[in-house]
Amino acid sequence: MSSVVSVDLVVASGERLGRTFTLRPGQAFQIGRSPKTTIRLEDPLISRVHALVELRPEGCFVTDLGSSNGTFLDARRLEAHVPVEATGATELRIGDQRLLLSFEDEDEDAVSTRFELAPPLPRDEYELIGVLGEGEQGVVYSAEQKLLNRKVAVKVLRPERARDEALRERFLRQAWLCADVRSPHVVDVYDVRTYKGQVCMIMELVQGPSAADLLRGGPLPLPEVLRVGEHISRALLALQEAGIVHRAVKPSNILLDPSGAVKLCDFGAARQVLPTSGQLAGGATPVVGSFGTADYAAPELVRSAQATSQGDVYSLGVSLHHLARGGDSTPPRDEEGTLLPLSACGVLPAPAAAVDSLLAAMAHPDPEQRPTPAVLPELFRSLRVGCEPVSEATSVVEDWGDLLVS
Ligand SMILES: Nc1ncnc2c1ncn2[C@@H]1O[C@H](COP(=O)(O)OP(=O)(O)O)[C@@H](O)[C@H]1O
Ligand SMILES: [Mg+2]
Repeated sequence: MSSVVSVDLVVASGERLGRTFTLRPGQAFQIGRSPKTTIRLEDPLISRVHALVELRPEGCFVTDLGSSNGTFLDARRLEAHVPVEATGATELRIGDQRLLLSFEDEDEDAVSTRFELAPPLPRDEYELIGVLGEGEQGVVYSAEQKLLNRKVAVKVLRPERARDEALRERFLRQAWLCADVRSPHVVDVYDVRTYKGQVCMIMELVQGPSAADLLRGGPLPLPEVLRVGEHISRALLALQEAGIVHRAVKPSNILLDPSGAVKLCDFGAARQVLPTSGQLAGGATPVVGSFGTADYAAPELVRSAQATSQGDVYSLGVSLHHLARGGDSTPPRDEEGTLLPLSACGVLPAPAAAVDSLLAAMAHPDPEQRPTPAVLPELFRSLRVGCEPVSEATSVVEDWGDLLVS
C-alpha cells in the first residue's frame, strides 16, 4: 500500500493553489465548507462536510458524506456513504474544485526497518498500520486496537534509549504528565506498557496532520490560524491548572483532527511546576533543565532555563505567527526583539491589526507583559468570529479577504 497520500488543491481555472496536504497511514481529511474541516473549500456547491479521504491499511479511500452535488473520483460519481478505494485514481472533484491525489510508496526495506522498532504489544491486541512520525526519541505508529475496534497512536522509545534508565523514566514521565491534564485540546493517554526493558505509550489517534505538516503546503488561512490559537490556548489553560509547563509548543506538536478539534501532543519536554502562593499565572516556580526547540522558545527559557506558562504562551504566539507567515521558521523581529507584524512580513492581504497586536503581545520579551492562558481563548474566539465568512459563497482563494471586513 501507499504510505503517504498528498492532496494538491487546484481551482476551477486549473491554477494550482500551491497548498498540498499530506496524509499518513491511519489519518483522514475531512473536506467541506465548514471552517472545521481540514480542507476548507468556500463554494456554494459544496456541503459543510462534503467528503472524507482516509489512508487505511488496505489503501486510500474516499467517501462522499451525503452531499447533494456529489463527489467525483476520476469523473465517476460516488455513492453517498460508501467508501471507494482511490489508489490509482488521481482527481477528486468536489463542486467546482479539483483536488489532485498523489501516492507515494515507501520502499519495502524502509518499512521493515521501521517496523523493527515494533512496540512491546501483543499482536493479537494491536496491529500496526503505519508510521505517523519519527523523532530522536522514537517512532509514533498508528495502530488498530483490535479488542476495542478503534485506532490508536503508539509512541515507542528507541531500544538503545529504553536501556538507559534515566531516558526511560523521562519517557514515562511524559505519559504521566500528559495523563494528568484533562482537556479536549490535549491528546488523551490510554496506557503505558513496559516489557523486557522496552517501553511504549498508547494514546488517542488524532487523525489529521500536524500544523507542521500543513505548513509544508504553504501558510494557513487566518481563520485556521485563529482556531489553532483558540484551541491550543485552552490546552495551555488546562496545563496551567494542572501545574504543568509544556516547554515545546511548536507546529509539529500541534495536531488538527478532521473533526475540527486542535490538540497539543508531545509532553517529552514537559515539567511539573509548583504553584507559588496559590497563583499559577506566570508565577510558576522556574524549572532548570534543557528546553524545547530554540526557534519557538521564550528568551527567559533560553537564557536562564526559566519555564513558566508564560513561556508556553510565547511559543504559541511564535508558532501562530509562523503558521500565518509560512516559510522559514525563524521569526522576524525588530531590534528590540519584538515580533514583526504579519503585515510587514508580506502576508497578504494584511491581517487585521488586532491579530498582529495579539501575536506581538504573546511574544513579548517580558513574560509579565504577555497575556495569560486564562484570557487568550476568548481573545482568539472573538477575533475568529470577526473573520468567519459573512457570505457562504466566497472562494477558497478569498479566505483572507474576510478579515479585511472585520
Ligand atoms: N496522538 C497522535 N496522533 C496522531 N499523530 C501523532 C500523535 N502523536 C504524535 N503524532 C505524530 O508524530 C510526530 C512525533 O510525535 P511526538 O510525540 O511529537 O514525538 P517527538 O518527541 O519525536 O517529537 C508528531 O509531530 C505527529 O505528527
Ligand atoms: Mg514532537
